[in-house]
Amino acid sequence: MSIQESIQLREENGVAFVEFDLIGEKVNKLSSPVMMRFKEIVEELKTSNYKAVVLISKKPKIFIAGADIEEIKKLKTKEDFEVVVNQAHKIFNDFEDLPMPTIAVVHGACMGGGCELILTCDYRVCSDAPETKIGLPEVQLGILPGFGGCVRLPRVVGLQASLDIILAGKSVDSRKAKKIGLVDEVIPKELLEVRMGDFVQSVIGKGKRKKKFKAGGLVPSLLESALGRGMVFSQAKKMVLKNSKGFYPAPLEALNIVKKTYGMGNREKALAIELQGFTKVAVTDISKNLINLFFMMESIKKQTGVKGDVRPKKVSKIAVLGAGTMGGGIAQVAADKGFYVRMKDINNDSLSLGYKQAASIWAKKMKRKRLTKHDYDEKMSRITGGLDYAGFKNVDVAIEAIVEDMKVKKMVIAETAKHMPADSIIATNTSSLSVTEMAEAHPHPENFVGMHFFNPVDKMPLVEVIRGPKTSDEATATIFDLSKKMGKTPVVVKDGPGFLVNRLLMPYMIEAMFLLQDGMAIEKVDRWYTHKFGMPMGPFRLMDEVGLDVCVKVVKIFSESLGERIQVPEVAYTLAKSDRLGKKNSKGFYSYDSNGKETGVDQSIYKALGLKEPINPLTEKECLERGVFVMINEAALALIEDKIVETPQDVDLAMIMGTGFPPFRGGLLRYADSIGAKTIVEELEMYATKSGARLKPSAPLAQMASSNRTFY
Ligand code: NAI
Repeated sequence: MSIQESIQLREENGVAFVEFDLIGEKVNKLSSPVMMRFKEIVEELKTSNYKAVVLISKKPKIFIAGADIEEIKKLKTKEDFEVVVNQAHKIFNDFEDLPMPTIAVVHGACMGGGCELILTCDYRVCSDAPETKIGLPEVQLGILPGFGGCVRLPRVVGLQASLDIILAGKSVDSRKAKKIGLVDEVIPKELLEVRMGDFVQSVIGKGKRKKKFKAGGLVPSLLESALGRGMVFSQAKKMVLKNSKGFYPAPLEALNIVKKTYGMGNREKALAIELQGFTKVAVTDISKNLINLFFMMESIKKQTGVKGDVRPKKVSKIAVLGAGTMGGGIAQVAADKGFYVRMKDINNDSLSLGYKQAASIWAKKMKRKRLTKHDYDEKMSRITGGLDYAGFKNVDVAIEAIVEDMKVKKMVIAETAKHMPADSIIATNTSSLSVTEMAEAHPHPENFVGMHFFNPVDKMPLVEVIRGPKTSDEATATIFDLSKKMGKTPVVVKDGPGFLVNRLLMPYMIEAMFLLQDGMAIEKVDRWYTHKFGMPMGPFRLMDEVGLDVCVKVVKIFSESLGERIQVPEVAYTLAKSDRLGKKNSKGFYSYDSNGKETGVDQSIYKALGLKEPINPLTEKECLERGVFVMINEAALALIEDKIVETPQDVDLAMIMGTGFPPFRGGLLRYADSIGAKTIVEELEMYATKSGARLKPSAPLAQMASSNRTFY
């Protein structure tokens, strides 16, 4: 199909309609061929007599999704980027300078380059459909709006509103777009054709737009004053530094550009400043890592979780066994996405807690106006509950989230299977028990699988789909598909202690306990992990979140199954005997107030654990390396020797989605590759000599080092 057919220029009553509909693609994007075709059209428009030009998309849910990220990925040097961006600037400027009024009619997602294109139009209208979203997500890929977005958006919507969008990589819906002046009119989707025509006619009379941004209301106009601007910039910088902890250069650079170019009369000069900032961030490893992550996420959308052509079963009704912390969370997420959920527990109090948990998440959304009362009622009505198996004969999948006890789980699985259709699936949410052994309780073990969510279920994006030796392709594909439909990122893992994520996290948490025994202060170690390495929380805070009782129990289980590389630190035994459970009883490594808010390290813990006051004898380097390198060490075993997952991408995606491993580092194994197996092995050997055999490099990692290989 020719690119000419993908972007057509059509005339209607003297008005030119530029229609985007990339043949063979789900979305419209601004690839090089598209830009060249658009250039051709702009050239034609320059010498035409059209009364107006309308940009429109023929895709049902997309206006323009943005630049072609595949192409961005291939660009390496500053010069590569300069060629592409300069060309785009030229085309967009020419379009902006057309003699007739230009109008963008947006229906569907209008992101990145798409948004930058409509900013060159004199007028913008959009549909009121929920899929209509306009935004600049570039910073999420480690880059910044480089096709004029940093220059033009502030001119259209003012400083504050533009920084809100650019610095956070956000998008706005039609209502917000109208409120901030990003669009002139919002049109009901059904009336788009007719009302767009009326709008175009009204614009023809007015001609090109002269209006510059003018703040409405007292506060916005104060913020646009010289003093106000200073305040807005310094607040924005503080916010960026707080959110990015200084690890992500793109938002800071974007802020810099806006600061330099806001109010600048010379468009070309302003765009040159933007280009300079753009290339600075575009060539960084951070951007490369974030773009890789984007592609990993995209690839999950296309995967089925199995090889070959196996179709997932259709799932509409779900049962959840156990309405506790996890069961309540799973029910909420499933109902939120439109599934009918039947919760079953053994007592009414737990059931009502399950309901309450779901209700409170939606109530918060309603309070923030992200959910209507009608939607709230509808979602709540999708969850029912009981103490018996009523309704189970219509259920497609039951997710088991009862107590972590093999005997009880097996009993419940066998009993549940009797009440469900023979071809239905039971999925366990166990975090530490063998899925293989549990499957023995199911009369059709091929229909039994693991579906490991992370806590809190509504926030954590990862689901480990655990495939036992007897699990069928169909059951695996069904749970993989169900996870995606529940808005999660699934990764298929083989059965084995801790599956993947907990298996890697366990040595990390153990190492933190050894650091504590070595005289390190809890707040120091945690702060290094968050502020120097980029983890969302340090290992001690994490242990408090998970529950110290759970951590200690799992450490012991792991030391039995994984051998000498899991050593149990003395403090774990002391913790096991104490009443410190972590956040859940407001007593752990940290203290908590009556609302459960953390109030700092509980300084009495050192004495309680039989330790001296911390003297911090170790360097930042050692503290970080010991924790991170043991995860890499374990990952080498899990991936290469035990084949728990198939690819380094699986490890990286799971660690980013399941633990918040810093995305800008590209994941655990991309980070490992950036350091090199040789260095990691040498350091681990040194630490092992000093601190114990658990730190010895694993055989596969040592082999990688000696043969100079990388994970990717
Ligand atoms: P929980 O103690 O909050 O909830 C368990 C629920 O199961 C309780 O409401 C209990 O009344 C109910 N229950 C017990 N026996 C039952 C039976 N025979 N039939 C129906 N309901 C029964 O436990 P939580 O934390 O929700 O954990 C549940 C499962 O999820 C466990 O297997 C755990 O390992 C796993 N998990 C827990 C995570 C966490 O952070 N809490 C994270 C990931 C998995």
